[in-house]
Amino acid sequence: MALPLPPAALVHALLAHLLVSSSISLADAKVPAIIVFGDSSVDSGNNNRISTILKSNFEPYGRDFYGGRPTGRFSNGRIPPDFISEAFGIKDSVPAYLDPAYKISDFATGVCFASAGSGYDNSTSDVLNVIPLWKELEYYNEYQGRLRHYLGKAKANAVLSEALYIVSLGTNDFLENYYSFPPGARQNQFSIKQYKDFLVGVASNFIRELHALGARKISFTGLPPMGCLPLERATYFMGGGKCNEEYNWVARDFNGKLRVAVGKLNKELHGLKMVLSDPFDLFLQIINRPSSYGFEVAERACCATGFIEMSYLCNRGNPFTCTDASKFVFWDSFHPTEKTSKIISDYLLKHVLFPAFS
Ligand SMILES: *[C@@H]1O[C@H](CO)[C@@H](O)[C@H](O)[C@H]1NC(C)=O
Repeated sequence: MALPLPPAALVHALLAHLLVSSSISLADAKVPAIIVFGDSSVDSGNNNRISTILKSNFEPYGRDFYGGRPTGRFSNGRIPPDFISEAFGIKDSVPAYLDPAYKISDFATGVCFASAGSGYDNSTSDVLNVIPLWKELEYYNEYQGRLRHYLGKAKANAVLSEALYIVSLGTNDFLENYYSFPPGARQNQFSIKQYKDFLVGVASNFIRELHALGARKISFTGLPPMGCLPLERATYFMGGGKCNEEYNWVARDFNGKLRVAVGKLNKELHGLKMVLSDPFDLFLQIINRPSSYGFEVAERACCATGFIEMSYLCNRGNPFTCTDASKFVFWDSFHPTEKTSKIISDYLLKHVLFPAFS
């Protein structure tokens, strides 16, 4: 961050600045804003403002972010929506809606409603007392009103329909809820197949509501190979440190079901252009062959011992935290490093998001 900007980046930054400082070009841009729903994979700090133990607004979180600032992102640096916003020439990070440091003028070019620990299933957000998906949508509704007041109705509606919506969640429904120990109510109510179908149904209804509110360009994000998250390896007692292949299979199969749902919704909903951003295969490749991507460690995380710590257990008091997170695929036991997020975002931008939306 201390390096002088190379000329190309300077021009880019200048263009991005021009774009956001003129509200006329704002509505004319291909993608004038990034609007985010989901869990910790995309939360940029909403959990800082609610009473949950699932937070990350303290060191060493954010130590590679601008100014070394812990923002509430579950990462050492930026997360995928930040890279996507930058790639579309908008701005280098997407602010959290509940962060009082930002105003509607900031949110007009991008806003995040995501909450770490949330899920498609209402009962998932109850586990750690975080913002449920329906409540994220309520905040979005409120945001629409504020945006219309700020930009005027016509311009605001143009931004809302041209914006790119990122929807990224689902991991917690399985790992925090369905497979929790001791087994929760969902395991008695649903087989794993039924639970996947239930979640896809909730996800599809969420998209219908978002579409009814004016969203047109939407990216569903698929699940990562969640059986290889360091926490899942460490707590998979039969596995001896290996990935939990059942969880990986569930994630892959769930992504297949999401893909089918995307096809159906595109036919069903007028004017909708929706894609699936599926990180599974690339993410698994990175975990299996870390050195091909410039990493040294994939089975444990950078923070603390790297096996189980995240949120308050990943703190500056821990002497084991690694010094160079760019050698690690995972930052804490549940979340990728900035470098991993960048590699996966670049791939999805090139192969899915740019072809569809630029
Ligand atoms: C989740 O809760 C909200 C608010 O109470 C409710 O409107 C919605 O129907 C619930 N969703 C499901 C799938 O039960």
